[in-house]
Amino acid sequence: MTTTQPATGELPIPGPGVSATSGQRQRTAMRTHLCGDLRADHVGRTVSVCGWVAHRRQHGQSLTFVDLRDHSGLLQVVVDGSVDVRSEYVLRVTGTVAIRPDGTANPALTTGEVELRDCAVEILSVATPPPFPLDDRADAVDESTRLAYRYLDLRRERMQRNLRARSAVLGAMRAALAPFDFVEVETPLLMPSTPEGAREFIVPSRQFPGSFYALPQSPQLFKQLLMVGGTDRYFQFARCLRDEDLRADRQYEFTQLDLEMSFIDQDDVLEVISTAVLAAARAVTTEPVPPIERITWREAMNRFGVDKPDLRFGLELVELTEIFAGSGFKAFAGADAIKGIRVPGGSAAHNRRRLDDLTTRAKSLGAKGLVWMRVGGGGKLESPVAKFLSDDELAGIIAATEAVEGDLLLLVADEWATACEVLGQLRNDLGRPPAGQGPLRFVWVVDFPLFVGVDQATGRPKPGHHPFTRPHPDDIAKLEIDPLEVRSRAYDLVLNGWELGSGSIRIHESALQQRIFGLLGITPEEANARFGFFLTPFGYGAPPHGGFAVGIDRLVAILAGEENIREVIAFPKTQSGLDPLTGAPTRVTDRQLRELGVRVIAPAAPVTGSDPAGERG
Ligand code: AMO
Ligand code: AMP
Repeated sequence: MTTTQPATGELPIPGPGVSATSGQRQRTAMRTHLCGDLRADHVGRTVSVCGWVAHRRQHGQSLTFVDLRDHSGLLQVVVDGSVDVRSEYVLRVTGTVAIRPDGTANPALTTGEVELRDCAVEILSVATPPPFPLDDRADAVDESTRLAYRYLDLRRERMQRNLRARSAVLGAMRAALAPFDFVEVETPLLMPSTPEGAREFIVPSRQFPGSFYALPQSPQLFKQLLMVGGTDRYFQFARCLRDEDLRADRQYEFTQLDLEMSFIDQDDVLEVISTAVLAAARAVTTEPVPPIERITWREAMNRFGVDKPDLRFGLELVELTEIFAGSGFKAFAGADAIKGIRVPGGSAAHNRRRLDDLTTRAKSLGAKGLVWMRVGGGGKLESPVAKFLSDDELAGIIAATEAVEGDLLLLVADEWATACEVLGQLRNDLGRPPAGQGPLRFVWVVDFPLFVGVDQATGRPKPGHHPFTRPHPDDIAKLEIDPLEVRSRAYDLVLNGWELGSGSIRIHESALQQRIFGLLGITPEEANARFGFFLTPFGYGAPPHGGFAVGIDRLVAILAGEENIREVIAFPKTQSGLDPLTGAPTRVTDRQLRELGVRVIAPAAPVTGSDPAGERG
């Protein structure tokens, strides 16, 4: 596979070059070649190409040089100066491939050695000048303008490269799953509202006024029912809908590679997903991808301070608690955990103001404070708190962190989770490379805790995932005794610091499920009312099963070197959930509302006719 270097990152992405390899298949009644296909080998051939006028340079009265663009690239065609061709006109050009005259080759273009001469030009469409230039300059254009004219934005090389990367990922994953004998099944988009997870999008029913469907947050319930139904292995590229605040890695609508398997354990699921995501990576990059490591959730927290560690860089957290047992320094004395990070050579780069900023940042993240230490000559630690620490403590810090002259040390004492999380965030602030830089570091995070803390109001443990997640087999005995220490069979796949996907082995036996509901304070009657349609089937014989869902938008964004999943979605919503192209969401007619039995309550602050976010195009 040919690859080209994208402007936005270091990963080679299948760009215009890819289509060039498909050669004959691109031939149609209107064209013999793609614009980006032509090379010195074609010299002397008469060819027809179709595309848009990207640039045009008038050369006196007699000649016009046109850069003709299609999804494969640009080709210079030399046309008669009397032909009226303008920006974004759609042309069919038939001419002879020739080497460009001495000194006029353009090494920036794959077709830069050649041009088309003696051209016959057919104008297929005329065009209004576009509101922004359809090249890299559009990256600086306001995003809502780009989205309002998404059909023009999509003509750009970057967007075509991203769409093709996405298509290549879907194709590669589908092919990777084939040998595992998965069955592709589509699950409903209209389903009942269920109380778990994110806020749902609700759809009113016309037949049953006052009743509503919900759009699926994921096919979770149905894929488990497929296992009860004897399907053995299911997968689907599933559209999921969640009404949550949008961010760089979140849209209302997104796509999962969703799967579920019967008669398996965790390793089986991890193997299938690893195979699929590595195939996806190979489809868009020729860079070698390091093997996928597996670490426990506790190790991820201890070493990286976060459950989605970015392994592209070091700055790992160092355990220092023991060193300060019985410390005379009151901030450290008796602390649950004391952790630090060593910033190699960080002393010089951090003047007092930057250190104060780091302290402010640490406090905003929930720390009581931040101790900083500069490592001076002879391993002497310079810090406002050095005078409170014993020589043994100072020597212990140097030994544990392996610090050398010029390094900067940052220490936090707190509850274990807080110390980890604060330093984990500082680690990312200080070291995280931009998207598209460095290797692709996939990592499995396993053994997530089954519960995350205790609900203050009820005194009950709070589930870390949905309540159908299986406890770790070694910890089931601890369920009632020490629930917060119980690990689960839940696992995440992380790529370069992004949560790429999640899954778990599920509970398939009613007795264990009742035990978990009991711990959560859900009575059998309540469970039946909330999840009855899901629980009853399990009484008819459920196989042991488990599964996973990969966020495709996130995977493609990282592979394409993009910081925002909007760049790899053909028609995304803006940050505030609007589509500036279609104007969605829109009002509907009174008649439609009457039919649905829906009455609109006027919002407290009327937004009628105005655009609250100023994002409508
Ligand atoms: P979860 O809710 O963790 O698991 O979702 C799985 C993956 O889907 C992606 N994702 C999103 N991508 C874009 N925009 C969003 N709003 C968004 N929300 C989630 C993420 C995430 O890791 N049913 C379970 C899976 C299972 O247990 O099998 C589920 O949906 O990449
Ligand atoms: P204090 O004794 O509160 O004046 O704090 C002395 C120094 O220790 C300051 O630099 C604080 O930022 C820092 N500090 C206080 N509490 C903590 C803590 N829990 N972890 C790390 N540093 C702390």
